Order: sequence, then structure tokens, then C-alpha cells
Amino acid sequence: MNATAISCSNIAFIKYWGNTDPELRLAANPSLSMNLADLTVTATVQFHADFPADTLTINGKSVTGGAAKRVFRQMDIIRANAGFAHHARIATESNFPAGAGIASSAAAFSALAVAGATAAGLSLSEAELSALARRGSGSACRSVPAGFAQWPAGGADETSFAESIAPAGHWNLVDIVAIVSAKHKTVGSTGGHALADTSALQAARVATAAERFIAAKEAVLAKDLPALGPVIEEDTVLMHGVMMTSRPPLFYWQPATLAVIHAARRWRADGIPVYFTIDAGPNVHLICERPHADAVESLARALPGVQKTMRSGVGGGTQIINGECNYSGIRDKVTN
Ligand code: DP6
Repeated sequence: MNATAISCSNIAFIKYWGNTDPELRLAANPSLSMNLADLTVTATVQFHADFPADTLTINGKSVTGGAAKRVFRQMDIIRANAGFAHHARIATESNFPAGAGIASSAAAFSALAVAGATAAGLSLSEAELSALARRGSGSACRSVPAGFAQWPAGGADETSFAESIAPAGHWNLVDIVAIVSAKHKTVGSTGGHALADTSALQAARVATAAERFIAAKEAVLAKDLPALGPVIEEDTVLMHGVMMTSRPPLFYWQPATLAVIHAARRWRADGIPVYFTIDAGPNVHLICERPHADAVESLARALPGVQKTMRSGVGGGTQIINGECNYSGIRDKVTN
């Protein structure tokens, strides 16, 4: 009753922001993302009748409180499915530094779902594993399938899951993350989703999300960056518009965030096809094709206000790296 899984983080091109059901994490709008091969979390889950309580370590350190409870709740769902009450010993390790301003919840909860279900002896489909990952963190459902993934809006617990629209090898996109602040956010995504409906702009953002989703999906399938780029930038700014007009408002951007946005627009005018997207934080993800990645990374590093950069290509789906795997949906290996 022991399994280890590895999962990539992902960056959303069309953002999930707001829930129709916060408990089940059913999304207010469809979203689309790419897995990040080089930003991974490994999770090991062991169930045993002799364990007196659930325990969690993250990067070797014992964790209690809210973060641990959230993981234990995901284990409760797995235990209810498996029909036993054994406690779990859980360990996660990320390959990127904590405090880099990169959320690890998508990679962590997808790895935990697959490791936990496998350790519990459950035989779940990729869709069921994605739905299970979603219960821990909405965006985690998109890290279970390989490559580029879509997650529809609304639905019910069993029907809200992500699926791959193209494998990792489909397109040589690179995400260069310009880190402008590594500080822990005061309001995380879960708190932010709960505020989304307090913004007068959320209804308009949600009403037009399907159009952007379709345009972005077509652009990904066609490997057309000049078509994808403007849509992802507009979607990002709409989400941050909602954040900034929520009550209370959420201002994730720092002055350096805006400086990177302007720089990306300048580089584009100078002939480098690069586009920005920003999650619930101040750091800017610069999306380009591999032939331009070195130039974009060195330009980003030279900007005042950019502390460092991180870089990743497109990744595969969540994989079991030991233990019995009944899951046939794992198609692509994590690629670098
Ligand atoms: C801005 O999935 O982190 O990154 O379900 O509460 O864990 P929880 O939220 P989370 O929200 C992601 C928000 C986002 C956009 C996205 O990844 O789609």
C-alpha cells in the first residue's frame, strides 16, 4: 500500500478563476493549459493499519495546519472510495525552490491523487484521477493528462475533469518565468476564487471565456503563436482586472510585473515572438517557441526587477514511478 508518482506543474493559457461549486471545485469557466516538464513534484503515499494518524512532509519538513488538512481531505476521498480507514504517511518533494513564487499545488495534488489512488489499490481511469486531483486543487486536474489539457466549466463531480488535446511533443513551446518576487502571497488562489463574484467584471469575463478558450485551443492545435499570444494576454489581463476589482481587491502585480509586460511588448515589436501570462502572483510567464528561448531568457534576466528566471518545456502527464499501476492513461513521459 505504497506508491510514488511524479507530476508536472502547468501554466494556464485560459485561466480558471471562480467556482460554481467551491467545495467540489467546479470551475466557472473552461480553461486550457500546458504542462511544465521541468517543474515537478514527486509524491509518495503509504497507507497502513498501524499508522495512528495522517502525517505529511514537504521537502523533508513535517507540515501541520491548513496545508496538511487539505492533503488529508484528499486522502479521505481516496479512503472512502477504497472502503478502508487506514491512515497515510505522505511525503512530497518539489524540484523547484520553495519561495520561488511558483505555486506547486497543481503538481502536488495531481501527484498525490495518482500516488494515493494507486497506494489504495484503486483502478481509476485518467478522467477519474483528474477529477480526484481537482478536489485537492482545481488546476491540478490539468496536470494529470499529458501535454496540453482542457478542463470544461461546471458539470458535476464525475464529469469535471481535464483531458489532453495534444501530447507534449506536439509543439516546442517554452515557458520562461521571470521571478520578480519570491514572497508568499497573502491571499492564495482558493481565497481569490471565493472573491471573484464580488467583482463587477467577473460576469463579463466568464461570459466571454468560451470564445477565448476556443480561439486558444485552435491556435494550440495549429501551433500558431501569433494567434495564441494575444488571446492569452487578454485572458490574463481580464483575470487580473477581476482580481483588482474584487472586494476586497487583490493586487498581485508589482511594478516589476508591469515592467516585464512592457518589455515583452517591446521585444515583440523588435521581432521576437513572445507573449506573457500571469497567474495569481507577481511573476511573469513568457511564452515563446524554443528557437527564441535563449534570447528571451537572457533579455528577461537583464531586466531590473527580475531576480531570476526559470524555464520549462512542455511536459507529459502524471506518472507512477513505483508501485502497482492500473492506470493506462499515462501516455507521454515527462520530457525536457
Ligand atoms: C490563476 O487551482 O490554484 O493559476 O483550486 O483553490 O487550489 P484552488 O485554485 P488553483 O487556481 C488556479 C488559478 C490560476 C489560473 C489557472 O491555473 O487556471
